[in-house]
Amino acid sequence: MKTIDIHTQTQDCRIIIVDSFPDLELYVKSKRTVIITDNNVSRFYRHFFPAWDIIETGSGETVKTLDTVEFIYNKLLDLEIDRSCFILGIGGGIVCDITGFAASTYMRGIPFGFVSSTLLSQVDASIGGKNGVNFRGFKNMIGVFNQPSFVICNTRMLETLPRDEFINGFGEIVKYAAIGDRNLFSFLEENYENALALDKNVLERCIYDCLIIKSSIVEKDEKESNERRKLNFGHTIGHALESITGLKHGEAVSIGMVFAANLSVRRNLLTIDEAKRLIRLLSLLGLPTHVETDKEKIKDAVRKDKKREGKNIRFVLLKSIGEAIIQEITLEELEEVIDNDMR
Ligand SMILES: NC(=O)c1ccc[n+]([C@@H]2O[C@H](COP(=O)([O-])OP(=O)(O)OC[C@H]3O[C@@H](n4cnc5c(N)ncnc54)[C@H](O)[C@@H]3O)[C@@H](O)[C@H]2O)c1
Repeated sequence: MKTIDIHTQTQDCRIIIVDSFPDLELYVKSKRTVIITDNNVSRFYRHFFPAWDIIETGSGETVKTLDTVEFIYNKLLDLEIDRSCFILGIGGGIVCDITGFAASTYMRGIPFGFVSSTLLSQVDASIGGKNGVNFRGFKNMIGVFNQPSFVICNTRMLETLPRDEFINGFGEIVKYAAIGDRNLFSFLEENYENALALDKNVLERCIYDCLIIKSSIVEKDEKESNERRKLNFGHTIGHALESITGLKHGEAVSIGMVFAANLSVRRNLLTIDEAKRLIRLLSLLGLPTHVETDKEKIKDAVRKDKKREGKNIRFVLLKSIGEAIIQEITLEELEEVIDNDMR
């Protein structure tokens, strides 16, 4: 078991990495707890849950909406849940995002925590206090910053993940290595086969190293006014592709990182060799590095990106593997690169 503590202005959060399904009653001190989970996680793990009330949602990006949040509010009201209770999300990034948002807004906020069940949510989505839902097809448009009390990352749960969902998680792992940890990047290059074979030690090292980067950034800049923007490496184009193509989050971020690396080369920040290293690692891990899409739709989605400010967008670029930099780019330049560099 490994633990990492995140201290922020709003709330402290303990992250616990374990390799078996934990006794959840040890972590929750409230008199009453409600579990929010999705249908797949419920199917595999319900028998491990304590005898607490359960709210079960559907799964997939299409359920990450205000309608699902309303469904949860109704259930919470029917169950007579009040602010002395605790809400526990058990699932991947979608369950965590929805649970965190519902718990933060129901009765102006109820304490909550997560058991994170996908690789992507263990290295990224369940950590850091961003909770929200999509709106009118745009990613994470409605949401709040609010830290969970704890996040339990159970690596054993990764064994039941569908293969494509497991590989999806490496999109975010490579992101962390690319923006902040050259050693982790080299480790992945040397150990990608073991990682893909679910080697426990390799996965634990990847998860721990990503969480160390994320927690130190979140502690410095919880509400994303500066340093935390670096975590958006690959996400401007990634979010656009996710909305348009139905690619999974990590897959879309993978293509977004290739776009950002090429833009970094174009701006004389990154060498071509380093950009090729990034693309090679993504391919070795089975992630996509390009996709055929409607460029007009990408441009439209980028115009609606939360990172846009007026005619400019703050874009995360690489100076080298392990070092990110944020530069302003005009929408005009970005659209030109989309037209010329994307297939
Ligand atoms: N809040 C943040 O900071 C943040 C960061 C990155 C991504 N995200 C969000 O996370 C979401 C993606 O999360 P995800 O990739 O975990 O997807 P997900 O939550 O949809 O989970 C993927 C699939 O695996 C199933 N599943 C989950 N755990 C399982 C298990 N242990 N065994 C078998 N099946 C399991 C789910 O039911 C789902 O079908 C996106 O909406 C993205 O925007 C949020």
